[in-house]
Amino acid sequence: MNDEVALPDLSPLRDWFTSYCDSFRTDDPAVQRNYDLKQQHTSNVCRDALIVAQGMPQRFLVLAEVAALCHDLGRFPQYRDYGTFKDSESLNHAHLSAQIMTRHAPLHFLSGEEFSRVDTAVRMHNAFHVPTGLHPETDALLRLLRDADKLDIWGIFEGYFDAPESERASAAGLGFPDLPGCSPEPLAAVAAGRMVHLSTLKSLNDFKLLQVSWIYDINYLKALRLIRERGILDRFAAMLPDERPVREVLAQVREHLERRLVTEG
Ligand SMILES: [Fe+2]
Repeated sequence: MNDEVALPDLSPLRDWFTSYCDSFRTDDPAVQRNYDLKQQHTSNVCRDALIVAQGMPQRFLVLAEVAALCHDLGRFPQYRDYGTFKDSESLNHAHLSAQIMTRHAPLHFLSGEEFSRVDTAVRMHNAFHVPTGLHPETDALLRLLRDADKLDIWGIFEGYFDAPESERASAAGLGFPDLPGCSPEPLAAVAAGRMVHLSTLKSLNDFKLLQVSWIYDINYLKALRLIRERGILDRFAAMLPDERPVREVLAQVREHLERRLVTEG
């Protein structure tokens, strides 16, 4: 990448994104809340991706913003057509985002190579693991997008519980029932230092554990610092049941976070 080449103006792409969101506008406030949530999420992911990538080459920051802006395009038709953000009950929203981006987003300022890096990052941002064998720049972009996405989802999820039920974006909780306690399988995964699989969830509390387990998947030191600065673990601890197995796995995740901050910081 050559930093001396003039940087593209991203405002036409940002404007395109706004009119894309507007094209889904509806009079039903309960539905509109879910679209608003994704529009706000997208702008927060753009912001967090740029914070995490601070100091990296300017052209990489351009790719980061493009990828962040396009990564959830598929969420809009997904919700319109299926009424859910659960991929397992509808479609792979990341693949749909990449398709929409390819067909409609004004990205002529990207070289073919750059486009393919963004395309892979968008397409793979929701995969359980980062695939091996990617080009180093694609790998860096994908890891950045995944970190920024998680950073904002943590914030959204907190907001979801803070809001009165009538004002919640209904699809944010993925439809899991609010049952007491946590299930053994998600607890065991976190205890083993692994990410929780969506297929093992039975309740909203399990979904919270899944989100806590994402800390194991964070790539960039700057993102780890933001997790600490934003008190994300404390906030999840306050939302989870105050029970010994839960406290134990939370302590373990905290240890993991602190260890990485010490060894890599
Ligand atoms: Fe996202």
